[in-house]
Amino acid sequence: MNSPFRSDCLEGKVALVTGGGSGICFEVTKQLLLHGARGAVICGRRAKFLERASAILEKETGKSCKYKVTDVRDPNGCIEAVEYAMQQYGKLDILVNGAAGNFLAQAKSLSPKGFATVMGIDALGTYNMCNAAFPKMAMKGGAIIINISATLQCPATHWQAHASAAKASVDSLTRSLALEWGPEQVRVVGIAPGPIANTPGTTKLAPGLDASDIDGMMTEGIPLGRMGEAWEIGQAAVYMCTAKYVTGDVLIVDGGEWLYRPPL
Ligand code: HXC
Repeated sequence: MNSPFRSDCLEGKVALVTGGGSGICFEVTKQLLLHGARGAVICGRRAKFLERASAILEKETGKSCKYKVTDVRDPNGCIEAVEYAMQQYGKLDILVNGAAGNFLAQAKSLSPKGFATVMGIDALGTYNMCNAAFPKMAMKGGAIIINISATLQCPATHWQAHASAAKASVDSLTRSLALEWGPEQVRVVGIAPGPIANTPGTTKLAPGLDASDIDGMMTEGIPLGRMGEAWEIGQAAVYMCTAKYVTGDVLIVDGGEWLYRPPL
């Protein structure tokens, strides 16, 4: 893959990426490091996955990648993750909120705890990390927060009432924080990925189907005719980091999927 961005366009930057141990945010971390970031801390709930992911990221990028076990629902855990990044690298320029939880459930059978769990990871977790990181990012120049949402909530999606509510909250938080934190030199943006091949976001939502079944099923409703690749979300993140006059925007990266209607 040839990147259209200069390999030093993020030179010296330090990133903290929740959900960076797998899927889309693993690739986001990789692209940030490949484009000049000096180091990254990836966060998630499972040490085993994080340890493996950080070793792969270091090997594939030649950059430093540390990990910190963090449940973003815990505000103190988020503060500790930010402190860890500060201890490791002395600053924090890029926060990516990618940690998410999801499952398929009809609204009528969803329990209040199930709804609260997904809201807690996605919406509250994003707020907790923003809240923890802001004091270290404000008035430093060039800081950016990237909140990863989805397109489920753009129209409405069956069996995704909980995740759609959570992702709509994330997009709303992106705009509110952009408004209040722009004067503090912190840009806050969103990226809304559509169906991305070989990630939990698509495989978990199509249980029992293998990757090629999912690919065939999904591409019919995607104007660009294919599922996305995780590195394409990583490139969108690099773009957002370099787009210095963009804040409060949520960039949809879905091949046009959410717009799709069958021909009349
Ligand atoms: C109905 C469910 C359920 C299911 C859990 N719950 N799974 N309800 N159907 N399949 C309910 C439980 O019954 C329980 O409520 C409540 O949720 C909490 O469940 P726990 O298992 O105790 O929670 P926890 O261990 O915190 O697990 C969180 C999780 C889990 C979300 C349920 O799957 C998770 O953490 N997954 C992380 C990885 C992941 O999902 N990534 C994909 C993100 S994709 P009761 O009332 O029964 O006690 C994404 C983008 C989508 O977000 C884009 C798509 C294109």
